[in-house]
Amino acid sequence: MQDTHRTELVQVERNAPNPVIIESAASLLKAGQLVVFPTETVYGLGGDAMQPPALESIFAAKGRPYSDPLIVHIAHEETLALLVSTLPEYAKHLARMFWPGPLTLLLPASSRVPKLVTAGLGTVAVRMPRHPVALALIRAVGSPVAAPSANRFMHVSPTTAQHALTDLDGRIPLILDSGPCEVGVESTVLDLCASVPTILRPGGISLEALQQVLPQVVYHTPTKQHKEHAAQTAPGQLPTHYAPSVPTFLFEGEIDAVHRAMLAELQRRQAQGERVGVLIADEDIAAFAQSGAHVYSLGSERVPEQLAARLFAGLRTLEEASTQSILCRGFPTLGLGMAIRDRLRKAAGGKIIVVNE
Ligand code: TXA
Ligand code: MG
Repeated sequence: MQDTHRTELVQVERNAPNPVIIESAASLLKAGQLVVFPTETVYGLGGDAMQPPALESIFAAKGRPYSDPLIVHIAHEETLALLVSTLPEYAKHLARMFWPGPLTLLLPASSRVPKLVTAGLGTVAVRMPRHPVALALIRAVGSPVAAPSANRFMHVSPTTAQHALTDLDGRIPLILDSGPCEVGVESTVLDLCASVPTILRPGGISLEALQQVLPQVVYHTPTKQHKEHAAQTAPGQLPTHYAPSVPTFLFEGEIDAVHRAMLAELQRRQAQGERVGVLIADEDIAAFAQSGAHVYSLGSERVPEQLAARLFAGLRTLEEASTQSILCRGFPTLGLGMAIRDRLRKAAGGKIIVVNE
């Protein structure tokens, strides 16, 4: 795709979106153009879900293959009737409990949903975001809005408008900027078409929270074999889907052993003249204070919400600091920690070092 647009970045107040700006963004979407907009998880690259040419533009702007299906964003639960062929009672219940919010439900697609949305899989992924700007925009369009994360394919998802601009400048006409996203990792994708409700992608709604409403929900941590298989049904499960452009290594295990292994790897790389970034928590800062590494702390290891909110900005910041490698520590998997581990493992693309003593 050629860079044919002058990309305009417009500030929109999160809690009181200017109706004039929302209307002009909605007009672009109605005309089949694309708009980047904030959600509570990450910024989305929106196009009218019912207009195939707009959907084609989404794939072109991202450089994303057609085999990777899109999430459809709605502002009213009634819109589900247009998108899905059957709506089980427990799906309605989940929607009532978690929408608007970072939960995407995979349901049987109706015949009206364009194949470009579903990648021909027969299922459609739907969510109702809880960001006031996203909701106002979808309402103003009057049609569901398909939106993948507003990054170039295989890059880290954007949690600020600036991140989206870095990836998509010149490829789209408009970015709505409402500041950093609150959650920071993408929505949880829950497959309600499988025999057992299964999390395909851990995200902003935790496994524990889902199980309180629907106890049978499961999540299978991807193994190598799983990944090969999952790549065919849900390309978002590709092990390198969220990778930064710099080689990234993830150290998992007991924290003192992790510190020692990270410091040893750091020194080895620095001895070769490499500029190294480390992605850690506040509790680790002392261990790396004298290390000479470019340090980015995600916040306290005891507050997964904080870690999640800063995760993608951290990876991008280290990448933009011209590091030649990034070393990350792993985190406990309780609550949002599950999504954090998943994104770090994807960023590492299999370069995971497990250390225990
Ligand atoms: O938080 C989010 O979900 C963000 C914001 C913008 O809403 N969106 C997002 O979209 O992360 P995207 O396209 O980057 O990731 C969607 C994931 C992909 O892994 C895709 O493969 C999966 O959902 N997906 C979408 N439709 C699917 C389907 N019918 N079957 C299986 N997986 C599907
Ligand atoms: Mg994405």
